[in-house]
Amino acid sequence: MKTIISLKNVEKYFNSLHALKNITFDVNEGEFVSIIGPSGCGKTTLLKIIGGLTNFSKGSVTIESGSVESALQGRKFGFVFQKPVLLPWRNVLENIQLPLEILDRRNASEIPSKLLKIVGLEKFENFYPNELSGGMQQRVSIARALSFGPSILLMDEPFGSLDEITRDRLNLELLRIWREESSTISSITFVTHSVPESVFMSDKVIVLSARPGAVQQIVDIDLPRPRTSEIKYSKKYLELVQCIRKILK
Ligand SMILES: Nc1ncnc2c1ncn2[C@@H]1O[C@H](COP(=O)(O)OP(=O)(O)OP(=O)(O)O)[C@@H](O)[C@H]1O
Ligand SMILES: [Mg+2]
Repeated sequence: MKTIISLKNVEKYFNSLHALKNITFDVNEGEFVSIIGPSGCGKTTLLKIIGGLTNFSKGSVTIESGSVESALQGRKFGFVFQKPVLLPWRNVLENIQLPLEILDRRNASEIPSKLLKIVGLEKFENFYPNELSGGMQQRVSIARALSFGPSILLMDEPFGSLDEITRDRLNLELLRIWREESSTISSITFVTHSVPESVFMSDKVIVLSARPGAVQQIVDIDLPRPRTSEIKYSKKYLELVQCIRKILK
C-alpha cells in the first residue's frame, strides 16, 4: 500500500502555546481519513501543516515520500475550508474557473462544465453566490478545489455549518464524487466535529486529545463500501460511534 501522507513526531508551537504534540500517523492511497477532537485541539493547524500552509516546529511530514514543498509545487493539494469563501461578484462557473485562470491553464473553459455536473449544479452556472443555498455554495467550493485535478483532498469541516439533512446528503455526494474521481484523488483527509460523520465517511478516524492535540487513538472503520444510509442502523456502525465517543470523553 502506497503511503500518501506521513507524519512523524510532529510538534507545533505558536510561540509558547503548545498546539500539537507528537503527532504520528499515515494516510495511505485510497483512504478516507477523518481527524476529530475537541475545539481548539489543533485540527485546522494539522491540516494546514499537511498542506504546507503552516510550518511545524519539530518532526517530519512527507507527501508521497517527498517534501510538502514539492507537493505544493506539483499542485497536489485541493483545499476545502469550513466556509465556502466564494467571490460574490463571480457566478458559479467563474468561481470554479478561478484557480485555472490563476494557473493559466489553457483548457480552463472545458473543465468546469464537467465539474458542475459532478457536484450537481449544471443548471446554476450563471447564479451568483448570494443566490445559492449554503449547501450549494459548499458544492461550488468542492468543485473549485477539484478544478486543477488535485490528488490529495484536504477538507476542514466542509459541512460543519450545514443542517443535518443537507450534511447527510452532501456526505453521500462526496463519497460518490470520490468513487467517480478515484483515478485522480488518491486520498481524502477530513476534519470534523461530528462523530457519526467521521464513522460514516472514513476508513480510519484519528482521535485527538484536547490541546496540546495528541493522537489518542486511531480507530479503523471496517464498514463495507459503498456506504449507504442504511449502514447507520447497523450494530457495527453504532458500536464504532459509541467507541469514539468514549475515547473523546
Ligand atoms: N495563527 C495562530 N497564531 C497563534 N495561535 C494559533 C494560530 N492558529 C491557531 N492557534 C492556536 O492553536 C490552537 C489550535 O487551533 P486550531 O484552529 O488548529 O484548532 P481546531 O482544532 O481547528 O479548533 P476548532 O475545532 O474550533 O476549529 C488554538 O489554541 C489556537 O488558539
Ligand atoms: Mg478548526
